[in-house]
Amino acid sequence: MERFAAHIPVLRDEVVDLLDPAGGQLIVDCTVGCGGHAEALLAAGGPGVRLIGIDRDENGIRQAKCRLERFGDRVRLFAGNFADIGEVLSVAGEATADVVLADLGVASRQLDDPARGLSFATDGPLDMRLDRGQQTTAETLVNALGERELADLIYRNSNERYSRRIARAIVRSRRNGRIERTSELARIVSEAVPAPARRRRRGVHPATRTFQALRIAVNDELGSLETLLRMLPAVLASGARVAVISFHSLEDRRVKRAFREWADMGRAERLTKKPIVPGETEIQQNPRSRSAKLRGVRWIA
Ligand SMILES: C[S@@+](CC[C@H](N)C(=O)[O-])C[C@H]1O[C@@H](n2cnc3c(N)ncnc32)[C@H](O)[C@@H]1O
Repeated sequence: MERFAAHIPVLRDEVVDLLDPAGGQLIVDCTVGCGGHAEALLAAGGPGVRLIGIDRDENGIRQAKCRLERFGDRVRLFAGNFADIGEVLSVAGEATADVVLADLGVASRQLDDPARGLSFATDGPLDMRLDRGQQTTAETLVNALGERELADLIYRNSNERYSRRIARAIVRSRRNGRIERTSELARIVSEAVPAPARRRRRGVHPATRTFQALRIAVNDELGSLETLLRMLPAVLASGARVAVISFHSLEDRRVKRAFREWADMGRAERLTKKPIVPGETEIQQNPRSRSAKLRGVRWIA
């Protein structure tokens, strides 16, 4: 238990206020991770609240299990993709959810684990899979895609303006052998970005966007989010509250659009006209929270 005491999830209190869990409700935490939000929601909702936690990463499930142990059989955890929320609920014998949370992206523990290959900051294999059972890794994409496909992938998933130069540099480097390590890719990308642009990106590593783009592609993050947003109306109880925390505009745009469409159809009421963002103190304590945006809706029917 103590090992997780330091982890405070992003916008924790704001999520609890927005979702306002209460006795008798079923919460679905689509990205249970190490259980930080889940723990706060269970504690706030009181003894009658139950929770289903989903995560693609089996390590996350193991950590959540440990952190949420004290809630006993009120918590059920499933390794899988939140895009399959309908199947998860049906396997759990539940028809609808009263509260749904998705805290998108990756956790710090995943970013900081060199074996996962998610970070340019530490050397590791070019892997990036959240679900280790999946075949395609970042190494597969970096070494198999053509120059045009690579450039498009990088641009589409990160708006990297030097995507073409980066793709060209990757393909050129492949002539000397496969690119297998995060450090190799980080160096190739850095060298491909023109020096003045490197200087302009003060403090932000030139490979940040390329790594983000590959991670999104390897895990089909935007596809999963779109499927989740499409599936939610079928699994929400009347009056259900939904909150999504996104970390970049590609995610936030999709969430904003879905919530607006539901509101326009009279099927939901928006709980956040503008996204809720972390305050200065939270950003200081957890710099990775700086790009977080929280949006919420209350489902009508
Ligand atoms: C930011 S972390 C969540 C942290 C969590 N809210 C907490 O308080 O500990 C995001 C988690 O979502 C998981 N994840 C990302 N995409 C997913 C998907 N499509 N389905 C299920 N889990 C996913 C990641 O493995 C990661 O554990």
